[in-house]
Amino acid sequence: MRAFPATRLRRLRAQDFSRRLVRENLLSVDDLIYPVFVLDGENQCQPVASMPGVDRLSIDLLVARAGEWVALGIPMLALFPVTPAELKSEHAEEAFNPEGLTQRAVRALKAAYPGLGIMTDVALDPFTSHGQDGIVDEQGYVLNDLTTTILVKQALSHAQAGADVIAPSDMMDGRIGAIRQALEQTSHVNTLIMAYSAKYASSFYGPFRDAVGSASNLGKGGKTTYQMDPANSAEAIHEVGLDLQEGADMVMVKPGMAYLDIVWRIKQEFGAPTFAYQVSGEYAMLQAAAQNGWINRDEVMMESLLAFKRAGADGILTYSAVAAARLLA
Ligand code: PBG
Repeated sequence: MRAFPATRLRRLRAQDFSRRLVRENLLSVDDLIYPVFVLDGENQCQPVASMPGVDRLSIDLLVARAGEWVALGIPMLALFPVTPAELKSEHAEEAFNPEGLTQRAVRALKAAYPGLGIMTDVALDPFTSHGQDGIVDEQGYVLNDLTTTILVKQALSHAQAGADVIAPSDMMDGRIGAIRQALEQTSHVNTLIMAYSAKYASSFYGPFRDAVGSASNLGKGGKTTYQMDPANSAEAIHEVGLDLQEGADMVMVKPGMAYLDIVWRIKQEFGAPTFAYQVSGEYAMLQAAAQNGWINRDEVMMESLLAFKRAGADGILTYSAVAAARLLA
């Protein structure tokens, strides 16, 4: 007699209603953080060539466009300033200028949309002439503790401007603790910290470095003396443990798609709010393939974002946030 399979997993896949009933993960607009590039001046809009669909915007245009993003329900923006070359220096003084681009953008956005979360990038690379995330010695080595003192000033100037979430992306040791302490001492007790805890020395950041005009060719070694080795996984647990102990409210993994195992491991280990960054190079790859007609842009975008949820991410920083939110609406 012919044996039938006792279990047919295809039964539940046969109709849409049952596929919906057993679906384990869902992407929602609440999961999306939209990174934006901020330009100086007025009425300025510059497309980023290597990131089709992404524009660098002056503050006035940013505020104007954000109306739609708020209406779509996007919870938070992440700001990245495009610093004019003449404001860059060895010691990155522009990073903590209260009238700097980030600080002005935070004030303008919070004034226009008080309920929209605003996250700021804490790192010195947009402000250093050499493009490293910190202050360098004669050999070009990034000095940890000196850099941290400047990161603290930068973080305080963002909090002072009204930033909701401070996001240190520099990978200096001890910076989360130093920033948390400084925030407490200045009565910014509810300012959140999202730590770029497991930030890898990745070549997927190339288009971002074009977009903000920080050197995309940083010379020998790039950022390998402070960002993590892509070969490592247990070290990410070590990093996250320290950042949570030092006072981070949320942790992040970056890049995203090639690092979903790290997201999973961190979420399992700590159960803390865990985010992932689908970075510029990942976005560029998908857009390029879609432009060639090799993949379906929207379907691949939604599938890739859902994969972050399946890996355990609580939210995703993605240049596709607005496009995804429109499809979800
Ligand atoms: C800078 C910073 C980088 C990104 C976010 N913050 C680049 C880098 O570390 O060189 C990358 C984002 C992206 O590629 O989308 N500290």
